[in-house]
Order: sequence, then structure tokens, then C-alpha cells
Amino acid sequence: MNLNNCWRYLVYPPVDIDDDALLTHFAGKWVVVTGASSGIGEKLALRLIGVKAKLYLMARNEQKLKTLCDIAKARGTEAHYIAIDLRDRAQLDELCRDLPHRLPCLSYLFCNAGKSIHRTISDSIDRLHDFDRTMDLNYRSLVALSLALMPSLRNAGGRIVYTSSVSTLHPSFPGWSAYHASKCAANVWCTTAQREYKTLKVKVQIAYMPLVHTPMADATPRYKRMPAYSADEAACILLRLAMSKKLIYRPWWAWGMGI
Ligand SMILES: NC(=O)c1ccc[n+]([C@@H]2O[C@H](COP(=O)([O-])OP(=O)(O)OC[C@H]3O[C@@H](n4cnc5c(N)ncnc54)[C@H](OP(=O)(O)O)[C@@H]3O)[C@@H](O)[C@H]2O)c1
Repeated sequence: MNLNNCWRYLVYPPVDIDDDALLTHFAGKWVVVTGASSGIGEKLALRLIGVKAKLYLMARNEQKLKTLCDIAKARGTEAHYIAIDLRDRAQLDELCRDLPHRLPCLSYLFCNAGKSIHRTISDSIDRLHDFDRTMDLNYRSLVALSLALMPSLRNAGGRIVYTSSVSTLHPSFPGWSAYHASKCAANVWCTTAQREYKTLKVKVQIAYMPLVHTPMADATPRYKRMPAYSADEAACILLRLAMSKKLIYRPWWAWGMGI
């Protein structure tokens, strides 16, 4: 094993998942995945299709979502897609009114859609919209969907699984104020909900995900060259968390950081 592989193995230990356990937890269950058209969410959807979960997939890219639904249909499971810009408040309001009627019983809500922006504050003087957009997607849409689907989750004793970032546990990095502020806002909402929802038998779980090679991360050239999990490994991390009693996932080297 060369030094690079050794480093990768230590910092990103391989993640696997037991197919029988996956079947037990997800087969025939209703699952919502936001951000299903790319990266982690797409791999998550494919894993869930593989064990015949019943899916509602959301993102903007209709073609990618339709392709996933066609794959699901070919494998004999039910899947629906909702092509939506989750930052659009009118579209989101309509969805939040409509979806609980279509999904009275929901076992898992994977809040995974996200957008990162790397720009220093001094380069953002005329870009308040960067902060609005990251907040609307990374924080507000998670809260809106969680609130709207709470009765459906309660009916199934379900779970909300949020894809956060391990970087929100580090001291702040220059350039990430919009992204980190929005992901941290969602962290705080989820940790509060973890406590409040306990009595409602709805579990809220947070994955403090390390670096994952996806279109989002690889847009930063430095990250593209760094060792990282694959999108499929990240999907396995989310699924393992969703099958466990744990409230959070974070890599072993992040224990003691942040919260
Ligand atoms: N990659 C990493 O290193 C890393 C590390 C920690 C945490 N995360 C988190 O992991 C999650 C998934 O990211 P990824 O790395 O898989 O990135 P990705 O490949 O860029 O996927 C992002 C997903 O979010 C959807 N999305 C973006 N803007 C949207 C909007 N306005 N409305 C609806 N959906 C929207 C995208 O779909 P459309 O473009 O089709 O809308 C896509 O499906 C994010 O929450 C991210 O913060 C990633």
C-alpha cells in the first residue's frame, strides 16, 4: 500500500453495508430523498431502488430524476419525482401543502439537497443573494419539508436524516461563510428537533459528512485532488446511520470537534 492509499484508508476507512439489513429496513417503505439528481443523493436513490424502497425524489434536473424513476420501475418498485427548485418559496409552499396528502405514512426523509458557495465576505459586498440562496436551500427547505411531513413521519415512526458537513465542526474557514452559516443553522434546527421529537417517536439524525467526490466538491480544484469518500460510500454512511440508533455520524477523527 503506498502512502496515498494508506492516508486514504486511515482518514476515509472503507464503508460497506449489509444488503440483508438494507432490505429489512427499507424494502416497501416510503422514502423521500432531496437532491437525488446528482452526487450522494443519486447514489442513495440507486441503493434504495436496489432494495425496493418506494421513493419520492426531488431536485431541479427533471431528466435525471425521470431516469431514476424509470430504473425503479424496471426493477419493480414505485418511484415518483418532483422537479422543483427548493429555494423557490411559492413552489415549496405548494409542495408542502400537497405532499402530506400523497404520503400519509413516511418512514425516511433524507434532507440531502445542498449548494456550496466559496467566496470571501469582501468579494460578496454586492451579493446578498448568495446568503439568501444558500439559506433558502440548505436551511429553509429542510425546515419546511420536515414541518410539512411531520404528521406523515409520526404515522410511520419515521426518521429525518440530514446531510451536514464535518466542516461545520471545524473552526470557520475563510470563504465559506454563506455555506457554513446555512449548514450550521440546519445543524442547530436538527439538534433541537432531536430533543423535541423524541417524545413524538420521530428520530432526527445528522451525518457530519467529510469530503466526498461529487460535482459539488470537485468544483473546487484543490478538493478534486484530495482523498475523499466516493458518492456511493457517502450514501452507505447515510443508510447505515438511518438503520442505527445513533443520532449522529461523524468520522472518527472529528470526535471531540465542535458540538
Ligand atoms: N461533497 C462533499 O464533499 C460534501 C461534504 C459534506 C456535506 N455535503 C452535503 O451533501 C449534500 C449533497 O451534496 P453533493 O456533494 O452530492 O453535491 P451535488 O452532486 O452537487 O448534489 C447536490 C444535489 O442538490 C440538488 N440541488 C441543488 N440546488 C437545488 C435547488 N435549488 N433545488 C433543489 N435541489 C437542488 C442538486 O440537484 P439539481 O441541481 O438537479 O437541482 C443535486 O441533486 C449537500 O447537502 C452537501 O452540503 C457534501
